[in-house]
Amino acid sequence: MLKKIIALFFAFIILLVSFIGCSENETQKDGQPRLGITIYSYNDNFLSFMRRNIESMLTGKASFIMNDSENDQAKQYDQIDAAIQRKVDALAINLVDPMSANMVIDKAKASGIPVIFFNIEPRLEHIMSYDKVWYVGTRSRESGDIQGEMVLNAWKSNPKWDKNGDGKIQYLLLRGLAGHPDTEGRTERIKAVLTNNGIVLEQLDEQTANWDILQAQNIANTWIKKFGDSIEFIFSNNDSMALGALKSIQAQGYNIGNENKFIPIVGVDAIPEVIEEIRKGSILGTVLQSPKDQARAVVDMVLNVASGKDVLDGTDYTLDDVKAVRVPYKAITKENIEEALEAYN
Ligand code: BGC
Ligand code: CA
Repeated sequence: MLKKIIALFFAFIILLVSFIGCSENETQKDGQPRLGITIYSYNDNFLSFMRRNIESMLTGKASFIMNDSENDQAKQYDQIDAAIQRKVDALAINLVDPMSANMVIDKAKASGIPVIFFNIEPRLEHIMSYDKVWYVGTRSRESGDIQGEMVLNAWKSNPKWDKNGDGKIQYLLLRGLAGHPDTEGRTERIKAVLTNNGIVLEQLDEQTANWDILQAQNIANTWIKKFGDSIEFIFSNNDSMALGALKSIQAQGYNIGNENKFIPIVGVDAIPEVIEEIRKGSILGTVLQSPKDQARAVVDMVLNVASGKDVLDGTDYTLDDVKAVRVPYKAITKENIEEALEAYN
């Protein structure tokens, strides 16, 4: 008798579980795919353009929650846990800490949820550790190559920029977040391109401003007082920091029209504020990374995997050998600023 009751009880449980499972699948099929999205910080200038593009492209196509991780990886883990609990169909993640993709992957893998990382490239071993993870971004080193070419050409055609006439470039460099693949790739390549083309570089200083305009402005305040007219170039890993440096040197009378008080600056991103400065001639140039094209790829891919389709279904992107879709960079100087405005409008 007891055995029978126990057997009946288990049969009931099994029925109940399969019923719950069923009804859940049903609602997922009826409704739009559900997504969880995180942005490492809503204060980041470049990411704010990615964010707005992703939001508008997803509207009407998915139900999603987008979180500001406020530059706090622990907070981001909580947001991801919450999304998994809500049973999202896919995640799109802009990491806070470039080294922490494995933790995110572990969480997603346990529930079989696909993940599209964007903007911060996960380490190779992490991306290869789960078949349902992909990356949308750029090739970091390419932006450094383009910056290097830009500096090389400008330096060669402006002999008076060699203020002390020693043939070398006395430069300052603003680095992004330490350990960020873009920081490493850009810093390494701009120097390599110049050196490989016979330019001798002399580093006055190199500091990290964590992609941030205010931190860059503070650093440049010290620089301009310390090095003044011996500064021949400012290389910046991104545009926000380039803007911070510009503000700082302008307060000391540089780059406001006096030809003898000019320090060329290069950045990366092509955000509208920098385009405006390029137009005025106060920033030399930048490297466009299109928030629109990257957002489009994130949206197309996350919608595909959320509905169980092939990640590239209906698109003409290609994946490289590390499961990444890469959007190309482009040099932007006074001559072609319209192209940048288009990618950011
Ligand atoms: C951009 C930076 C941005 C960073 C955030 C980089 O690709 O160039 O402007 O702050 O990504 O991860
Ligand atoms: Ca010099």
